[in-house]
Amino acid sequence: MPHVLSRSRYTEDNLDLAVKQGVEQYVILGAGMDTFAFRRPDLLRQVQVFEVDHPATQTFKRNRLAELGWEIPSHLHFVPVDFTKESLADALKGTLYDVQTKSFFSWLGVTMYLTRDEVFATLRSIAEIAPEGSAVIFDYFVPEEDTPHMKEMREDLRKIGEPMKTTFDPSTLAFELESLGLRLHENLSPSDIQERYFQSRTDGYYASKHVRFAWAVVE
Ligand SMILES: C[S@@+](CC[C@H](N)C(=O)[O-])C[C@H]1O[C@@H](n2cnc3c(N)ncnc32)[C@H](O)[C@@H]1O
Repeated sequence: MPHVLSRSRYTEDNLDLAVKQGVEQYVILGAGMDTFAFRRPDLLRQVQVFEVDHPATQTFKRNRLAELGWEIPSHLHFVPVDFTKESLADALKGTLYDVQTKSFFSWLGVTMYLTRDEVFATLRSIAEIAPEGSAVIFDYFVPEEDTPHMKEMREDLRKIGEPMKTTFDPSTLAFELESLGLRLHENLSPSDIQERYFQSRTDGYYASKHVRFAWAVVE
């Protein structure tokens, strides 16, 4: 799905800049099968990477990496967390994650599967355990009319056991994040994403009409 490519590109372009400005920890929330730590040895020399994911997904991934014989880089750390049951802050405090070090978090393809309270609890945790100037990038669904396409997507997700639970109103997001200790720095609309990543492509890829990218900074 082109959306998956564009959200990773947006995140990693900004991570690149953040590392140049002194970020030394990259925390990938809901990492899934993300291969950042294997694809970017150049950046991995400069940052500690923490893959935070549901224990079931993380066990699957670690087993698969072992089957493939992929060596785990020394800068990559695995942190099993269920966002519906545990606090991100508590889970990270028990690892090599350093609360004093400026950090960059990504949370891609996850907020829609959690309740609003669960999303806010994790964002609040980030503001608690990351120093000022740290950042989080996440994607989110916007409230939509139930178009046939939306209905089909909801139904497909429900069938695979991952029902869509949460959308955010882009016009009130800044206000909501502020109450958690985060400042909304960028809030890309589908047309911003289309213009930035897809407009000159000839392969038929285009931005999702339902998803936005948010970049928030710890105050
Ligand atoms: C659609 S995948 C996204 C993977 C990756 N971030 C990407 O951009 O391709 C959703 C991820 O969210 C994680 N996830 C869903 N619910 C979770 C929960 N309650 N606690 C922790 N992780 C969760 C899943 O384990 C999975 O890795």
